[in-house]
Amino acid sequence: MATRSEEIQKRRIFGIISHPDAGKTTLTEKLLLHGGAIREAGTVKARRNAKFAKSDWMEIEKQRGISVTSSVMQFEYEGKMVSIMDTPGHNDFGEDTYRILTSVDSAVMVIDAAKGVEAQTVKLFKVCSMRKIPVFTFINKLDRQSKDPLECMSDLEDALGLPSTAVTWPIGNGLTFEGIYDRLENKVYLYRKKDTVIELGANGVFGDTLEGVISQANLDILREEMELLDGAGNPFDLDAIKAGKLSPVFFGSALADFGVTCFLEHFLQWAPAPGPRKTTTGEVNPTDEFFSGFIFKIQANMNPAHRDRLAFFRICSGTFERGMSVTLSRTGKSMKLSQSTQLMANERETVETAIAGDIIGIYDSGNYQIGDTLTDRKEKLFFEPLPTFPPELFCRVRPVNSLKAKQFQKGVQQLAQEGAIQVYHNEFNDVILGAVGQLQFEVFEYRLHNEYNSEIRMEPLDFSVAKWIAPMQDLKEEDIKEMLVARSAMAYDHYERPVLLFANQYTLNNFMQKHPEVKLLDATEVDDSAYQEN
Ligand code: G4P
Repeated sequence: MATRSEEIQKRRIFGIISHPDAGKTTLTEKLLLHGGAIREAGTVKARRNAKFAKSDWMEIEKQRGISVTSSVMQFEYEGKMVSIMDTPGHNDFGEDTYRILTSVDSAVMVIDAAKGVEAQTVKLFKVCSMRKIPVFTFINKLDRQSKDPLECMSDLEDALGLPSTAVTWPIGNGLTFEGIYDRLENKVYLYRKKDTVIELGANGVFGDTLEGVISQANLDILREEMELLDGAGNPFDLDAIKAGKLSPVFFGSALADFGVTCFLEHFLQWAPAPGPRKTTTGEVNPTDEFFSGFIFKIQANMNPAHRDRLAFFRICSGTFERGMSVTLSRTGKSMKLSQSTQLMANERETVETAIAGDIIGIYDSGNYQIGDTLTDRKEKLFFEPLPTFPPELFCRVRPVNSLKAKQFQKGVQQLAQEGAIQVYHNEFNDVILGAVGQLQFEVFEYRLHNEYNSEIRMEPLDFSVAKWIAPMQDLKEEDIKEMLVARSAMAYDHYERPVLLFANQYTLNNFMQKHPEVKLLDATEVDDSAYQEN
């Protein structure tokens, strides 16, 4: 039997990031097919639809035909236990999408070969780069007319500042697409003769193996491009890949299931197994005996029959055993973990045991918050706080019926705890919501109405940038209020820290020019750890 340490080494947790429509769902589905987790293509989408039908507040998803929530999909492939964290794919994504990326060990970035790097990919990539996790790139839709592959590569560098190294390379483009060349394994996979793999000799594409197999025009271009890549491209460097400094690039077509297995096999070989995680008092190793982990997502009311919530928990060390008692570090309270579940899309099986690198669902009747640490260690433990993401949309919100202010306050507080939305207030105690996507407001309104029986009025505010103020010795809050420029305001976050809101980048620049003495911080730079223990 494998030891716990060997079992941990088999685990791979990754998230797939992409701009909507680049092919994330299609690729996920193909990976699950290869892993034997599903039998037919279309299952992931169908499963999503089935899930919609079951849940009530997710009605909003059904109406909009999108997925707001996310789940974990697991499969086994060549001895590796793979967990894919599914992230919401629509443009109206929320903080959930970002937060998922704080729990994964690597990411796969899907890019539409005709479009290159798009806006949402940039935002999601920033989170990966902040965490320094390896990012694997899959350039998709090669069966269609695409951008020049060299252009796709330089796009990564220009738009993301991410150096890349091509592992596979396309042969031909669009109608003339003939296959991919695996530069490391020195093999060619033919598109029209699926399952045909040609092993090239010592001279690679410059030898004669490909002559007469692919068109001469494509062979000439391939040789030219290989000369260029061999001479001027970034060499393959596994250490740099593991450090998140170099992205291995693969080409293929998720829809045609071409280039996918080749990608998967390389990926599983190079993607890291669960590693140590930082806490406020040093590192926790996955092989440490004591049990520990953190909650990175709370999903409400998955089952309308029970008004409970499900906390997504990443195990960082030790062994989970159903029924075990742990301490919630934030409150010091003892909790019994008797109701736990696997998170495989819609199949919710009770989990009896699990180890580091596993993600489990824990039923929650309102005790947990995003970022909470649970451990059976005697001493308190706090994993690095999950970053706050920069909100870009703001609105002021009030209950329509002021007699129902209590329900309103309770709803706001609970949804903020869940991390569904960011809550601020101004000096008049008006509630101000901050979100990264419009959909978060809609979900908020819907849930307040449906779960807390509170009708609300939302009034959009003309701000798009929030900045925190770095602690300063000689400046008082009152002084900063005096400094406010047109179209800016001061609010307070849930830790009562002052936050400056600006209409746009121009307003912010204006403020910074006038008051260089005030040091402003981004949401991601604010240190929450000092507040976490309270
Ligand atoms: P997303 O999750 O990233 O939003 O993208 P999704 O997989 O849903 O794919 C978006 C569209 O792109 C889908 O077409 C899908 O079939 C298509 N697609 C994905 N991969 C490839 C590929 O490799 N080649 C080509 N040619 N198309 C691809 P749709 O018409 O919008 O949806 P559907 O009706 O096919 O589901």
